Amino acid sequence: MWKKIFGGKGSPSDSSNLPLFDRIDRERLPRHVAVIMDGNGRWAQGQGLIRTAGHTAGVKTLKRILKTASDIGIEALTVYAFSTENWKRPHGEVDFLMKLFSEYLDKELQEMNEEQVRIHFLGRMEGFSEALQRQVRQAEDLMRNNTGIRFNIAANYGGQDELVRVMQTIARQVAEGKLSPEAIDEQTVERHLDTYGSPPVDLVIRTSGDMRLSNFLLWQAAYAEFWFTDTNWPDFTPEEFVEALVEFGKRDRRFGGLTKK
Ligand code: IPE
Ligand code: IPE
Ligand code: MG
Repeated sequence: MWKKIFGGKGSPSDSSNLPLFDRIDRERLPRHVAVIMDGNGRWAQGQGLIRTAGHTAGVKTLKRILKTASDIGIEALTVYAFSTENWKRPHGEVDFLMKLFSEYLDKELQEMNEEQVRIHFLGRMEGFSEALQRQVRQAEDLMRNNTGIRFNIAANYGGQDELVRVMQTIARQVAEGKLSPEAIDEQTVERHLDTYGSPPVDLVIRTSGDMRLSNFLLWQAAYAEFWFTDTNWPDFTPEEFVEALVEFGKRDRRFGGLTKK
């Protein structure tokens, strides 16, 4: 196992020193947490650095949060790394991000694999260079049979784009006579989503103060709980992640029904 984020008994990071950690209701843990890692640019600006320095710092946060989620026993963590809209950014920033993904996979693959992480990419992979696509496939293949946390990285991902791809697949099946329109239901759609195989999204976290989905998991977030913080992603800590889980445990999820008394 990864060295426990909160340390063993008596260590400086002993979990008993972290009242928040004790407050997690383990019976009411989200199975699947999705994170919009926002605010890298604002963080960098605040430090007098160029925007890309924020992305580099953001990777360090991601590593810590993945470890924390895995140690706590979250089944699936999905992170928004690059949206279908992010191509609008200056070429230099996009280029930097592509190199960062590639470096991240290179450097982290082995450790993630040892920790039984199951990496999976969501989005339109054909938008990436051949070399990056190859790395993505290799990473997924390597970790396919692992037994630990499912780690979805949404890259060149857009919720609308995902649903368009689902509709195209279903329409093709109908056109080929393999499926009747009446047989299409929620499960049919679910089966073709990029997240197929992950539990339902229970909690969406967005850092950096904006309160919108920005085209993230439009279908999957139908009944998710939302948690927002003003903290920029590079400053987001495991403690704050735990705070979100604690808050989640207190939410009354009615799914359209009535509270159980
Ligand atoms: C999120 O941080 C990372 C990506 C979208 C790749 P931003 O780069 O959006 O940072 P802000 O929102 O401009 O501060
Ligand atoms: C959402 O952040 C995408 C990612 C975190 C990868 P953006 O920074 O792109 O979202 P907007 O533009 O503020 O909606
Ligand atoms: Mg942003």
